[in-house]
Amino acid sequence: MDRVVLRTLNDKKARREPIPYPFLKWVGGKRQLLPELLKAVQAAGEFGAYHEPFMGGGALYFRLARMGSISSGAHLSDINPNLIDAYVGIRDDIEGVLTALKGHERRHGEDYFYAVRASSPRRPSSKAARIIYLNRTCFNGLYRENSKGQFNAPFGRYSNPLIRDEKNLRAVSKTLQCATIGTRTFLDTLDGISPNDLVYFDPPYIPVSRTACFTSYSKNKFGLAQQRQLAEVFTSLATKGVRVIASNSFTGLTCSLYESHYIYSVQATRRVNSRPDRRGPVAEALITNFRVAGLGAPRKRA
Ligand SMILES: C[S@@+](CC[C@H](N)C(=O)[O-])C[C@H]1O[C@@H](n2cnc3c(N)ncnc32)[C@H](O)[C@@H]1O
Repeated sequence: MDRVVLRTLNDKKARREPIPYPFLKWVGGKRQLLPELLKAVQAAGEFGAYHEPFMGGGALYFRLARMGSISSGAHLSDINPNLIDAYVGIRDDIEGVLTALKGHERRHGEDYFYAVRASSPRRPSSKAARIIYLNRTCFNGLYRENSKGQFNAPFGRYSNPLIRDEKNLRAVSKTLQCATIGTRTFLDTLDGISPNDLVYFDPPYIPVSRTACFTSYSKNKFGLAQQRQLAEVFTSLATKGVRVIASNSFTGLTCSLYESHYIYSVQATRRVNSRPDRRGPVAEALITNFRVAGLGAPRKRA
């Protein structure tokens, strides 16, 4: 995998630039867990390249890049091709994305929403604009796909949705300039990880109750077998000297899969849930292969 140097943002001028944040509302987005995640990254010390194989909305990556914490390259990937196309479109043709969004903004309405939902543009910039437009204007702002990988959330009735968030999209585009971005399963990212690199795994979560099902963010299910595989990968990377951070729900299964690592219980607020009674604070697990100060006592360390 090619090594790239991500521009650091330590200089004065760069610090005045807006802080980029996720341009999509993404299920499992990590904005509320950022303080705890940043403590973990700080505890990891100096690292080589940064890897995020379950990129989603990319909350941690954007914050780290903006803070100048990534200086030896970033490798971002996700299994969802629609999401990755959007990242590539924004990185490589921000003007095209903004122009396409202007068109969506002008023509926005229920019929237009469904026409865009049914469309399959080819250019990366148009693909990016399509997913941003749909995400900003759909019901609940929730990214949802059917079994064929097609976006299927219905129209949302917002009086004045922010469709073209130009300042943020430009900041996002800058931050992505020196990152490698690709559609891959997490297993296909492992060869490019070297000792001393930092990896953040944020997979679809283990269900918290017996009645809940394993999550399906897209047409690719992430079941018990994948959770086990990921835990094995975590351990083998840790053995190689890689600094590894993972998040997951705080369950008995999580504790047993990661029993030989540090497991911290942290509180997150879930805002996106179809049931309002499940939108409150929930315990989540932050798993590391190094001790993190300021997160309380780790649950287990064999
Ligand atoms: C919890 S979300 C990540 C959220 C992200 N950290 C954020 O801040 O928005 C999990 C992501 O894993 C991706 N995913 C699911 N199965 C995967 C697999 N086998 N390999 C790589 N990515 C996968 C999903 O498409 C989804 O974007």
